[in-house]
Amino acid sequence: RSVSLIGAPTDIGAGARGASMGPEALRVAGIREALQSHGVDVQDRGNLNGPYNPWLPPVDGYRHLAEVTAWNQAVHDAVYAELRQGRMPILLGGDHCLGLGSISAVARHCREAGKKLRVLWLDAHADFNTSELTPSGNIHGMPVACLCGFGPKELVGMGGFSKESPAISPKWVRQIGIRSVDEGEKRFVHEQDLEVFDMRYIDEMGMRHTMELALATLDANTHLHVSFDVDFLDPAIAPGVGTTVPGGPTYREAQLCMEMIADTGLMASLDVMELNPALDEKNKTGLVAVDLIESLFGKSTLMRK
Ligand code: ARG
Ligand code: MN
Ligand code: MN
Ligand code: MN
Repeated sequence: RSVSLIGAPTDIGAGARGASMGPEALRVAGIREALQSHGVDVQDRGNLNGPYNPWLPPVDGYRHLAEVTAWNQAVHDAVYAELRQGRMPILLGGDHCLGLGSISAVARHCREAGKKLRVLWLDAHADFNTSELTPSGNIHGMPVACLCGFGPKELVGMGGFSKESPAISPKWVRQIGIRSVDEGEKRFVHEQDLEVFDMRYIDEMGMRHTMELALATLDANTHLHVSFDVDFLDPAIAPGVGTTVPGGPTYREAQLCMEMIADTGLMASLDVMELNPALDEKNKTGLVAVDLIESLFGKSTLMRK
């Protein structure tokens, strides 16, 4: 397996500054060495460039739309280039608005390669807001809606997609760990029939059953994309994020989630988003993220049968 690390050092879509330092914190936590220890060929492509964060209030329901577009275009191009070379891109965020650039590139690749796409969205949040629904204007709360065709044309159109023919369908998405959805967003999630395994579901049914359902109906022709917002994790183990929400998966639950994804053997691209070293404690969150990513690449206690 060959992976390429792509750093996207920006907090352009977030409501707190600091996710721009995420890529370096993941490197300092040893992401490259961790993957290499599992026999993965790792190329670190370094960091992308983009506009600085002007830290302005929202305009027409969007904060920093022009800058968000520029960053996402850079991410789209970089992710697409790796997929074309047959390498697995790992996007080191950066805030979660960049999931739009990453997943639109994956969708474009799948369309050309005749592959089915399944997106696992591991997050405390649904990120399904639109400019009308958002309470904040922060575009990191909108990437899933934009990918499904609900958003500004500069974002919806990335990769040659459009409102009429969007990058993904809500049917291709499974969201896991959700525990904070805004009022209007809630209605829209219901209307679009997004498949959400929220924390209540995980509490009642357990992570094992949750992941069995989220990973059902995959086949050898499926490209599995994992978009891992680090705020998915309980703040007790992952305090270094801008939008902590209590009551997330424990360390053990998160490990099982990652291990079951690894068992499918189908993960072909990954985003690691929202790590905010300015809010972390001695890179604790960076280290736990790298530990979990190792499990995504097959780390296990015993040899698997
Ligand atoms: N729902 C809130 C908003 O729209 C928070 C979104 C947080 N998203 C994230 N990727 N951390 O502002
Ligand atoms: Mn491919
Ligand atoms: Mn989140
Ligand atoms: Mn998110």
